[in-house]
Amino acid sequence: MSRHLSCVAVFLAVLAETCLGKRCELRVSGIGIGFWQAGGRLWGRYGLREAVEVIGAALEHGIVLFDTAEIYGNGRSEKLLGEALRKLRSLGEAVIVTKVAGFRVTWNGFRKAVEGSVRRLGRRPDIVLYHWPPPWPFTVCRVVKLLEKLVEHGLTSYIGVSNFNAADLEEAAHCAKRHEILVDQVHYSLAHRVPEKRLIPLAQRLGVRIMAWGPLAKGALAGKTKPDNAARMLDPVFLRAARDKRLQEALETIERKHGVSKAVIALAWLIAKKAIPVVGARRRKHVEDAARAATLKLREEDVRVLDKASSRYLGRADYSELRFNRAIPPPLQWFTYKLLLRGI
Ligand SMILES: NC(=O)c1ccc[n+]([C@@H]2O[C@H](COP(=O)([O-])OP(=O)(O)OC[C@H]3O[C@@H](n4cnc5c(N)ncnc54)[C@H](OP(=O)(O)O)[C@@H]3O)[C@@H](O)[C@H]2O)c1
Repeated sequence: MSRHLSCVAVFLAVLAETCLGKRCELRVSGIGIGFWQAGGRLWGRYGLREAVEVIGAALEHGIVLFDTAEIYGNGRSEKLLGEALRKLRSLGEAVIVTKVAGFRVTWNGFRKAVEGSVRRLGRRPDIVLYHWPPPWPFTVCRVVKLLEKLVEHGLTSYIGVSNFNAADLEEAAHCAKRHEILVDQVHYSLAHRVPEKRLIPLAQRLGVRIMAWGPLAKGALAGKTKPDNAARMLDPVFLRAARDKRLQEALETIERKHGVSKAVIALAWLIAKKAIPVVGARRRKHVEDAARAATLKLREEDVRVLDKASSRYLGRADYSELRFNRAIPPPLQWFTYKLLLRGI
């Protein structure tokens, strides 16, 4: 066993694992690393050196869950993830989540998309999610059947959805007859608590785990205040969380109490809510904070303080992230995301 692998084994013993599926079909680390930052066009430079640093640190700390998508940098994120894991000789240890874009509505489209992911990653992904709700008039049931077919064709082992609200998720779980929907990956953080009202109680009843994207509001919950890249500039949640004195002060009080950073507290709050955060990491320090969050158990009184300071972000409306895509026909989405923007 290499030195690197023995390090992984030691740290796995301390970082808690969590179960996906009603009968614990798959065990993953309680926190994951998001790979949109690697290759995503809105985030700025990120090459193989950074990917190796981030993934190496994650594996050392027992974080084995990595999140990517065909659309991130038009495949560049998947490619970097595969290359870095190969370089670290750890391709087999990772649990890889990727996503087929929500404009894919045919079997041919699904098959080609995941075959592309397999080629770029250098192995098949463990879980494939449908990235956003299908465009009208295509139904949730139709895409769930296509996800199930991916498992039957050996292109992935497990399936899930992303950005599905309560109604979509209920329909998806009802339609999934042959393979379970393991996760719904949604925008969830102290600065965006909309999923708590209808989606999370339903997901708990259905046995579907919530994976939280944007867990740090693009860095605002880690203390970043400047919209210094396009991802932050375009995100109203970053802009409001960075200026929210009440929430920032609550984070500061609890960070001082535990002697950790704000990022650790914001991620530990999500873990206390039984979500699995996928945090965008570009440096070793980001990964170390993620690992710390997975081992820190917030006291109930800390959770209550944070709940109170962020209560305005429960909002009134239903979960609606990326829902505007429902009104855009698949060819137009494909043209915009793949050709015009060359990924996001
Ligand atoms: N399913 C979906 O529709 C969807 C949508 C968006 C994202 N995602 C997934 O979710 C992942 C994360 O969400 P996100 O991209 O919105 O970002 P995020 O995790 O909320 O924020 C990530 C940024 O926060 C900063 N950061 C991270 N850890 C830090 C720490 N310990 N201390 C200080 N700063 C820290 C870094 O900024 P710097 O790099 O500038 O230092 C990092 O790029 C993505 O990578 C992607 O995999 C999924």
